[in-house]
Amino acid sequence: KKLLVVDVDCGVDDAQAIMMALASPSVEILGITCCFGNTSIENVCRNVLHVLKVCNRTEIPVFRGASDSLLGGSDLPFLHFGGDGLGDVPDQARPGLENLQGEHAVQALLRIISEHAGQICLVATGPLTNLALAVKLDPTFPQKLKHLYIMGGNMDGTGNRSMCAEFNFSLDPEAAHIVLNQFLCPTYIATLQFTYNNSLSMDFFKDLVNQNTMKARFMKKITSQWSHNKSDFVSYDSYAMAAAIDESVITDYLACSVSVELNGQLTRGMLVLDVNNRQKKTHKAFLMKRCDLEKFKKLLMLSLQ
Ligand code: BDR
Ligand code: CA
Repeated sequence: KKLLVVDVDCGVDDAQAIMMALASPSVEILGITCCFGNTSIENVCRNVLHVLKVCNRTEIPVFRGASDSLLGGSDLPFLHFGGDGLGDVPDQARPGLENLQGEHAVQALLRIISEHAGQICLVATGPLTNLALAVKLDPTFPQKLKHLYIMGGNMDGTGNRSMCAEFNFSLDPEAAHIVLNQFLCPTYIATLQFTYNNSLSMDFFKDLVNQNTMKARFMKKITSQWSHNKSDFVSYDSYAMAAAIDESVITDYLACSVSVELNGQLTRGMLVLDVNNRQKKTHKAFLMKRCDLEKFKKLLMLSLQ
């Protein structure tokens, strides 16, 4: 089995991505590390514990990580998935934090990856703060990873949190910059535009959440506020996870050296593609370009069965 560690800011799509990995017979999750993002760090931890409970997988350890960006002062004005990150479902019984591990997420990342050097795929679907802290504590951390999968950044200069920046990168641009410049392991990125270009229909979404299972009912509940005014279904984080589970889901990549804009008044947090390699970097990231949608849909359907 492929070994995964997942770093999330657990909103609805992170939840979907976790459920996809839990349902796949070809991967095993060794731990889930939490980062602020879609909601506060407390809510993120609670949401992950909630997802694991729904899936009967409470043996998977969950670790609390960064509550704020490297520079601090992150406001969270843009709430994709409600204040609690999982759709603000009224009267929902949510687990407490008793089952959270005592170890900090960054320490857990360093430990788990050292215990399985060269074997772990790290899937990061929130701001990259925990990963940036990990490489600062141990500069050899990235070379111990097998692959890194990221949902974040954008390809054409349009963002979803600001004019030019995607949510995860814009919440902690310095962290994204550190990770893209210092993680010299094979890195696969599902950008915002890639997810938009491979969005699914609302008819598919209905088939997905109307499956007659506990997991599908849970997903239907946490998406109910969000789903009625949408024209298509974009499960952002699920693309990064699907690629980690089955690399044949992604059928084309752009290999390119990348960086993150830190200073632009209008562009801070934007992913910058150095297609002509003017910075003369030797390391290239793989930006996902094309997706086998039939395979992707199968993984999604299976995740809620
Ligand atoms: C990303 O931002 C978060 O809100 C989502 O969970 C996803 O990781 C999309 O830009
Ligand atoms: Ca996310």
